[in-house]
Amino acid sequence: MASEEKPLVVVTCTAPVNIAVIKYWGKRDEDLVLPINSSLSVTLHQDQLKTTTTAAISKDFTEDRIWLNGREEDVGQPRLQACLREIRRLARKRRSTGDEDPPPLSLSYKVHVASVNNFPTAAGLASSAAGYACLAYALARVYGVDSDLSEVARRGSGSACRSLYGGFVEWQMGERADGKDSVARQVAPESHWPALRVLILVVSAERKLMGSTAGMQTSVETSPLLRFRAEAVVPGRMVEMAHCVRERDFQGFGRLTMKDSNQFHATCLDTFPPISYLSDISRRIIRLVHCFNAHHGQTKVAYTFDAGPNAVVFTLDDTVPEFVAAVRHCFPPESNGDKFLKGLPVRPASLSDELRAALDVDPTPGGVKYIIATQVGPGPQTLDDPHAHLLGPDGLPKPAA
Ligand code: DP6
Repeated sequence: MASEEKPLVVVTCTAPVNIAVIKYWGKRDEDLVLPINSSLSVTLHQDQLKTTTTAAISKDFTEDRIWLNGREEDVGQPRLQACLREIRRLARKRRSTGDEDPPPLSLSYKVHVASVNNFPTAAGLASSAAGYACLAYALARVYGVDSDLSEVARRGSGSACRSLYGGFVEWQMGERADGKDSVARQVAPESHWPALRVLILVVSAERKLMGSTAGMQTSVETSPLLRFRAEAVVPGRMVEMAHCVRERDFQGFGRLTMKDSNQFHATCLDTFPPISYLSDISRRIIRLVHCFNAHHGQTKVAYTFDAGPNAVVFTLDDTVPEFVAAVRHCFPPESNGDKFLKGLPVRPASLSDELRAALDVDPTPGGVKYIIATQVGPGPQTLDDPHAHLLGPDGLPKPAA
């Protein structure tokens, strides 16, 4: 095989961010990253938010190495090691079952990985899901693995397994102790609900005080609400949410999204010592959304918050201009008025006097730093253009990477 003579096999892939509408919070197995409840997410479009990862293997490499956003990181961290071990195990398994041609290069070859985000990590937007999904996907391509990658991505970060697919995705918690049935699968493709829009309201650029991993561990140990939620609430909500998505029922989808976000944050408060991810601005956004919906007499917009103060707002395309005007009214942009809106273009709109009165707020200038307007998007992609590679022919990051 010609590729056997190649000194370097290199692939570049991209993967999306996902936002959960039924939240994952709590593990039943820390090592295998097995969750206490199932979860369901929406994959965001990579035009606005994505991770790009290049993986290269060569017999000339003497050690595994990784560069994130241009800086070399410790490849020895346990989660990274778990991903590498898992992908090599899958590649070996594939070779030993003999149902495919053997991978062209030896599995003992070391790998170099370079990864960048097209959005500032410092904005506090979840980057680990896109990052580990992209790593799993790129490693699979370079080692010739085509089996389910849920486990590889999950071992990096639980929520990452949901970024392996586009559209609407569920992560089934599974029951087995070995985690083989704890897998992500697509509920509906990205083309399913074209009118759905996603607005990310970036509130704070600060790093969070308590990471998800440590936070959920304390919740598992101390919160009785978490146990109740996992056993008595989430199973029904998973069925209901999948139904709302299939039917494109925005009212049902929006209400349940908000309730589940609220219950996740209630679980954080029920944790001892308590965890609080929402800020004052987050709570003002919650109030704004409820005032907006009450004014319209129906659920027109819905918020959800992860382990940080930024809001992710779902709405339909015809509501975007008016809601963005409402956000501008409540949180007048401070200095970067022209850069307040990023991503998909939004038609300017003015607020009616009735809506202005219904919002009933004292404006908080600068409370929302900027908005990223995006939509539902596809899963990971492989880039064919060799210019896209972040690693040069020597296997080291290109200067721009
Ligand atoms: C609040 O996937 O970041 O975003 O598995 O420990 O890496 P680890 O946690 P992570 O947790 C995400 C928590 C969440 C909810 C969600 O995405 O479902």
